[in-house]
Amino acid sequence: ALQLTLAVIKPDAVAHPLIMKALHQKILEHKFIIVKSKDLVWQRQDSERFYAEHEGRFFYQRLVEFMASGPMRAYILAREDAISYWRKLMGPTKVYRARYTSPNTIRAQFGLTDTRNTTHGSDSVESAQREITFFFPEFHAQEWMERL
Ligand code: CMP
Repeated sequence: ALQLTLAVIKPDAVAHPLIMKALHQKILEHKFIIVKSKDLVWQRQDSERFYAEHEGRFFYQRLVEFMASGPMRAYILAREDAISYWRKLMGPTKVYRARYTSPNTIRAQFGLTDTRNTTHGSDSVESAQREITFFFPEFHAQEWMERL
């Protein structure tokens, strides 16, 4: 069924116009509907709130700093199986694993480090709902689905 997911292009990728272009093209190529998109910059507290579940992990500090280090682009994407489809395009979180196991994925091609790994994607229906609301508080998924 048609599903919504939240996809984010992280600051490392936004800093490179050619990578931005490649990622945007990938989204279109794979027939996602771009429901909404926006460019934004996080304050450190936004970063901490979004990644609260990782508090205490060894990478937490560098993660929250990185995500507040510059502009990002967030998308609500719709597609058949959007959540797993986008995650498959991204590839594994860890860049070297991505390069080893799935060289055609986004993170394998463009990721810099395990933290600066180019993109984010929701990992379940529940996190997609939470994350869409986090980035787009005014968006009503139900209404959008009904209008389709
Ligand atoms: P993301 O999909 O946004 O979800 C959590 C983020 O934490 C992840 O992408 C990475 O940016 C970061 N992260 C996860 N695991 C590690 C790790 N082992 N080392 C460094 N950063 C990590």
